[in-house]
Amino acid sequence: MENNSRRSFLKDTCKVCLLGAATFSIAEFLVSCGTTAKGFKTTVTDNKIEVPLSLFDTSNSQIISPRNYEYEIAVQKNTDNTFQALLLRCTHQNNQLIPTGSGYYCSLHGSQYDKQGNVKKGPAEKGLPHLTIETTPTNLIIHI
Ligand code: FES
Repeated sequence: MENNSRRSFLKDTCKVCLLGAATFSIAEFLVSCGTTAKGFKTTVTDNKIEVPLSLFDTSNSQIISPRNYEYEIAVQKNTDNTFQALLLRCTHQNNQLIPTGSGYYCSLHGSQYDKQGNVKKGPAEKGLPHLTIETTPTNLIIHI
């Protein structure tokens, strides 16, 4: 009887430890290097999005959230003042990706991408699509 209680206690304790370890590693991944600003709201018009260049005065990384579009877009201002725009749609099965600060994470099957959209961990095999960008004196125009 005493052995059964001890065994039950150890099994329950191990389950809590495993859950804690799994939660910690995902949480640690999600907050690593967190410098990405979040959620500029806009709309898609004629398959284009306009983003003010002034948005990048405070942070070189911005997440764009079009109200009438299924996926967010990550826009990065590079050190040479060029821009890259990544569609945050997992190339495995089209799930919306979560920005992590050091890249992007898919909560459906665990794929991970770096900030340039390259696959760091599968099951995804292809990198993220880079969207075409035009610049005007005041805005970025992103083609979807
Ligand atoms: S949909 Fe993203 S890993 Fe499967």
